[in-house]
Amino acid sequence: MTAIAVVEGDGIGQEVIPVAQDILALLHQEYEFYAVAVGYGKWQKTGTACTTDDISLLRDADAILFGAVTTPPASDYRSVVLQIRKELDLYANLRPIQGEGVDIIVVRENTEGLYSGIEWQEEDRASTLRVITRKGSERIARTACQIARERKNHLTIGNKANVIKSDVFFRDICMDIADEEGVSYTTAFIDSLTLDVLMHPERYDVIVTTNIFGDILSDAAAYLVGGLGMLPSANIGNRHALFEPVHGSAPDIAGQGIANPVAAIRSAAMLLSHIGDTQGAALIDDALHLTAEAGITTPDTGGTASTKEVGDAVCAAVRRLME
Ligand code: NAD
Ligand code: IPM
Ligand code: MN
Repeated sequence: MTAIAVVEGDGIGQEVIPVAQDILALLHQEYEFYAVAVGYGKWQKTGTACTTDDISLLRDADAILFGAVTTPPASDYRSVVLQIRKELDLYANLRPIQGEGVDIIVVRENTEGLYSGIEWQEEDRASTLRVITRKGSERIARTACQIARERKNHLTIGNKANVIKSDVFFRDICMDIADEEGVSYTTAFIDSLTLDVLMHPERYDVIVTTNIFGDILSDAAAYLVGGLGMLPSANIGNRHALFEPVHGSAPDIAGQGIANPVAAIRSAAMLLSHIGDTQGAALIDDALHLTAEAGITTPDTGGTASTKEVGDAVCAAVRRLME
């Protein structure tokens, strides 16, 4: 029995995840889905955003489908999604950017760097320790090389080694691992790299980088394929895996029924691939193409359809393709 933990979270997470879950259920009636409630809403109600029991429930799953959580600016609140990535050791954040003329995958280190959580505040100074470890760099570099081998066998190593010593360390480890794995590589400074990705996406295939650079690069690259409503992601560790849209809880449009569910649906497709159903994942991709071709899209991508209308159209296309 395959067990999928479903976390809707906050804001539009509650609108796009039910759509993605329906599509998974359509393809796999035998899956067991169970809800895990975490996030800002839970924190407001109970004072805790994610309990140790919630983490245990997530550990029990074969895979996790995750929406988004709101991170309030309160200084005593740490984002639940960061807590989960860390506790489940989901060290590789894979963010494919795919669309017309664009096929890039950002491989973002997901557990350290500026997200070390080692931070302190003094009267006139606030500090965050950026931690880059050999283990963390080696394992993300290996993941990127494995992905590159199945694609063009080339890696771009995004870094800021011209300024930051910990980035010299990261870049050099990535180069060593790529040599070891027989993958060719280019190194590029993350600032000019981001612009070049936007201007010449065809030059890029697999890009490996540190935590915050990967966060920013992937949101910027969303511009190439219609915005944040389109980008899925996988958070992978050795034992656990969580699939979520790249976007957040979008409080500005939450509750209006107009959130684009494509990122969440594509995340569900990545979940299927990960647990071995590549055919199901391809079928979802085909269904998404058919739906977009029929002009059934939400306002962020130029259409007039609601979240539910897109979801219904994708479900109908999946049914047709299953016949
Ligand atoms: P966001 O991704 O929520 O929204 C940015 C912009 O993109 C907004 O204008 C929003 O309306 C639009 N957008 C995002 N997803 C969309 C979709 N599916 N359809 C249509 N439009 C969409 O980023 P933000 O506004 O910077 O952050 C809002 C909250 O979400 C914050 O609390 C942030 O911390 C949190 N966040 C959570 C996650 C996560 O849980 N993984 C990721 C990113 C941001
Ligand atoms: C993301 C988000 C998170 C991150 C935030 C909400 C903690 O922006 O998943 O990209 O910075 O990783
Ligand atoms: Mn982000």
